[in-house]
Amino acid sequence: MRARTTAAAAITTALSLSLSACAATDAGSRGTASIGITMPTKVSPRWIADGENMVDELKGFGYSTTLRYADNDPETQVTQVEAMIADGVDALVIASVDGRAFKDVLSKAKSANIPVISYDRLILGSDAVDYYATFDNVKVGQQQADFLVEQLGLVNGSRKGPFTVEVFAGSADDNNTRFFYEAAMRVLQPYVRNGDLIIRSGEQELEKITTLRWDGVVAEKRMNSLLDSHYTNHNLDAVLSPYDGMSLGIIKALKKHGYGVPGKPLPIVTGQDAEIPSIKSIMDGEQSQTVYKDTRQLALVTSYMVNSVVHGNKPAINDTRTYNNGTKVIPTYLIDPVSVDKGNYKEILLDSGYFKKSDLE
Ligand code: BGC
Repeated sequence: MRARTTAAAAITTALSLSLSACAATDAGSRGTASIGITMPTKVSPRWIADGENMVDELKGFGYSTTLRYADNDPETQVTQVEAMIADGVDALVIASVDGRAFKDVLSKAKSANIPVISYDRLILGSDAVDYYATFDNVKVGQQQADFLVEQLGLVNGSRKGPFTVEVFAGSADDNNTRFFYEAAMRVLQPYVRNGDLIIRSGEQELEKITTLRWDGVVAEKRMNSLLDSHYTNHNLDAVLSPYDGMSLGIIKALKKHGYGVPGKPLPIVTGQDAEIPSIKSIMDGEQSQTVYKDTRQLALVTSYMVNSVVHGNKPAINDTRTYNNGTKVIPTYLIDPVSVDKGNYKEILLDSGYFKKSDLE
C-alpha cells in the first residue's frame, strides 16, 4: 500500500529539481538529525498510514524519527510536542487535533530554532509555523458537492428537484472543516436558493452541523435525530458527509430507519479519505462517493520540506495566498484530491497500487 505511484514519482521529480536534497547526516555535527512527528488519532486508518509513510520517507533521507499519536486529545498532543522540543528534535511535523492549541508550546520551538511544519491541518494563531503541506481542501469540498448535485441529476437537468438533503461538517477545532464546508456550500447554495434542494431540518450554518473530532457515532446520532424529527413523512435524497468514518455512521442510522431496501434506496452519501471500510461500502452500493487523498504523496512532499528546512533551504511550495493562520500566510504545498465512486475506484485505487485487491476482500 505504500509503493510510490506515478503521480508521486512526478512530485518527487518536481521537488528534486527545485531542491538540493542533501543527506540528513550532513545536517550538523551531532550526527543523524531527528524529526518529531505527531498525528491526531489511530481511530481512522488514514492517520495510521500517514504516520507510517512519514517515518518511511524520513528514514529514506537518513533521519531518525519519533512518531506519536495523540488519541484525539489536544492536551496530550501539546505534551508530546513539548517533550520533542525538550529532546532537541531538529524539526517538528504536526497534524493537529485542535489547531488552536499550540500557540505557547510552539513559541518554545521558535526560541529553540526548531522549524515547524503543519501536516494536513493548519496550526492557527502561532507565528512559529514555517510551512504547510496539505491537499487542496477547497477542491475536496467541491468534489463532494459536485458529485451530489450531479448524481441527483440537477446539473444536466436530467431530473428536476426538489430533492431533500442534509449537511454534515467535520470537527470545529480543525481548520479544514471550514474549507470543506464553504467550498461544498458554494456548490449547493444556488440549488437551495432556487428550491431544487431542500434542507428540511433548516440546519446549514456551520456552528449547527459540526461533528466533534469527526466522530462517526456523533454523526450517527445526529442523523438518527434528523430522521426522527424531519423525515417521518418525507424521503431523504442526499447527505453531504465530509469524512468516511462519519459517512458509515450516517448510513447505519439510515438503515435503522428503513433505508437501503429496494423500495427505499439509501440517499446519496459522500465521504473523504478512501478508507477501506468505505471503499467496501461503495462496492456494496451503500456509500456513494469518497475523496481519495494519496497519503503517500503528502508524506513525500512533507519529508522533502523537512529536509529543506533542516538544511536552511527553501522547500518547494505552490500556494502563497490561501492559508492565513491568523499571524501570517503560511507557504503551502497543495496536492490534488480525486473523487472516487463505484465507477472509478478500481482504476484510481487498485491500478495505482494504493490498495491491493486483497485489501478490499
Ligand atoms: C483531514 C481529512 C480527514 C479528517 C478526519 C481532516 O483534517 O483533512 O482527510 O477526513 O480530518 O480525520
